[in-house]
Amino acid sequence: MPETTDIFEVMSTMRAMRRLKPDPVPDELINKILQAGQWAPSGGNTQRWRFLVVKDPEIKKQVQIYYKRLYDETVGPRYASSAPPPGSDPARYQRQHAAVEYLTDHYHEAPVWIVACLEDGENPGRTAGSSIYPAVQNMLLATRALGLGTTLTTRHTGYGKEVDAIFGLPSGIQSYAILPIGWPMGRFGPLGRGPLKDVVYQDQWGKPYQGL
Ligand SMILES: Cc1cc2nc3c(=O)[nH]c(=O)nc-3n(C[C@H](O)[C@H](O)[C@H](O)COP(=O)(O)O)c2cc1C
Repeated sequence: MPETTDIFEVMSTMRAMRRLKPDPVPDELINKILQAGQWAPSGGNTQRWRFLVVKDPEIKKQVQIYYKRLYDETVGPRYASSAPPPGSDPARYQRQHAAVEYLTDHYHEAPVWIVACLEDGENPGRTAGSSIYPAVQNMLLATRALGLGTTLTTRHTGYGKEVDAIFGLPSGIQSYAILPIGWPMGRFGPLGRGPLKDVVYQDQWGKPYQGL
């Protein structure tokens, strides 16, 4: 599907794109994505983020080994035994599982990764991620707007210390997300989510929202 700058179309068609071509992505486009990330809000405007652009096949491969190990240890078995989420169905969930497995095997083949890091000290508190995930979401949206594919991935944090060492992160800096970016093999399309009314209440928990 072509590029689009309509923000609502971007959001409603920004499927997790896990099947990516290995073809190169111009720096000019990566730079637009990075700029979108840096425009994000952060608590107190502290901007303690750092973005690592990873293209080195060796580094990506070392990380993919941990990513695959976590699939084998936890993610694969969980997918195999859990029910489809709201807005999905068994067939659709099975396709999601297949795509997750595909990305696991081909993670390192995405031509560019953006690793979102945050300088949050040795023991990050409960809100630490709130100053990096807005930047991550901005980058996801920018990627989709440019017609590129990506998926927000955090699985590597299961071996966070090991992976951060591969990236050469100094102490006090953590990686929070890896965005594998490339030209998508498939097409963007409508997202599967449950009915909005099932997740919105009015005034107090459990009371139906009257606006819908
Ligand atoms: C916090 C978070 C972590 C995620 N980590 C991974 C991941 O490690 N690997 C992966 O393939 N997808 C990951 N995802 C993507 C979700 O599985 C995806 O957003 C969800 O299945 C909805 O996909 P859809 O937008 O295509 O419907 C993550 C998403 C979020 C929000």
